[in-house]
Amino acid sequence: MRFTTQAFKGRNCLITGGLGFLGSNLAIRLVELGARVTIMDCMLPGHGANLFNIAPVQDQVTVTYSDIRDGNLMSYLVQGQDYLFHLAGQVDHIISLTDPYPDIEINIRGTATVMEACRHHNPNVRVVYTGTRGEYGTAPHLPVDEEMPTTPRMLLDISNLTAEKIILMYHQVHHVRSVLLRLTNIYGARAQMRHPRYGVVNWFVRQAIDDETIKVFGDGAILRDFLYVNDCIDAMLMSVLCDAAFGEIFNVATGEPCSFRLLAEALIGVAGSGRWEFAPFTPERAAQEPGDFYADIGKIRQVVGWQPTTTLRDGLAQTVAYYRAHKAQYW
Ligand SMILES: NC(=O)c1ccc[n+]([C@@H]2O[C@H](COP(=O)([O-])OP(=O)(O)OC[C@H]3O[C@@H](n4cnc5c(N)ncnc54)[C@H](O)[C@@H]3O)[C@@H](O)[C@H]2O)c1
Repeated sequence: MRFTTQAFKGRNCLITGGLGFLGSNLAIRLVELGARVTIMDCMLPGHGANLFNIAPVQDQVTVTYSDIRDGNLMSYLVQGQDYLFHLAGQVDHIISLTDPYPDIEINIRGTATVMEACRHHNPNVRVVYTGTRGEYGTAPHLPVDEEMPTTPRMLLDISNLTAEKIILMYHQVHHVRSVLLRLTNIYGARAQMRHPRYGVVNWFVRQAIDDETIKVFGDGAILRDFLYVNDCIDAMLMSVLCDAAFGEIFNVATGEPCSFRLLAEALIGVAGSGRWEFAPFTPERAAQEPGDFYADIGKIRQVVGWQPTTTLRDGLAQTVAYYRAHKAQYW
């Protein structure tokens, strides 16, 4: 991590969705860096909110159980914040296929509510938004850079792209400094592990730990770009401190392609348990599958100076160790 450890000391940071996977890892890191952290989270059912996630810092953060769609509350919460990490979202792929309104309500209207609160009550706050590689849809060529057309396949990804554009508008028109990150598949500690509706790597980890058979869809050759959570948190922190990053869109990924088959083999090797087999795509997965994806991370490397530092093997080992130690809190 290339910034002074003093950068966040005494700074006020608001994390929407802060009890979830990415938000809680971010909260813990910010507390370690001396920040004053406020978490807001509405405990959306089936999502990643878990109080155990913030156990290491529970006495050092303020938690408010609230919804980003509540405009009055957002207006109050953004006041006095130096940094706002907007991570709250509907992220369940299956919900997105069956009911269009949570994506629209939470990801689009909710984001507009967050930004409207910033505009009126704290235009000097600096914002990070975490969008997704899904915004690109099927890649016309690889690796995918930020200039690639966006042709998302799912409403979830359309809602993230729309949220990104809303935030960009607030940056350009209302001067609320914002940086837009498009995250690849992130894995690591503190994710929801109860169902496979999102978070494929973490789901594989659960099956390996339980000595079960990991289902690798299709011929297992589809490529992805799997990033360890600590590297992702570094990208958020470094971006929000970088003046040249505001108004920019960045891929956050490893840039290194890995097939699902290789992922399963590496994981089983690291865990020392589990096995894998080929399986046909479920109808839901077939409908959503965009094909191969891996990112070009040259832009964030050049502008922000960020690059991942954790190997897949090390990241998987740390992930397996965390869930083995805390299985009762996640299964
Ligand atoms: N984890 C990944 O691999 C990944 C990849 C791409 C993008 N992202 C994005 O990162 C963000 C965080 O994802 P995550 O993996 O931590 O998911 P998560 O499910 O672990 O966390 C999301 C959190 O948002 C909260 N939330 C949902 N709706 C809310 C609302 N209306 N008001 C307040 N809180 C609300 C949930 O309760 C949950 O705690 C999401 O926007 C997601 O789209 C994540």
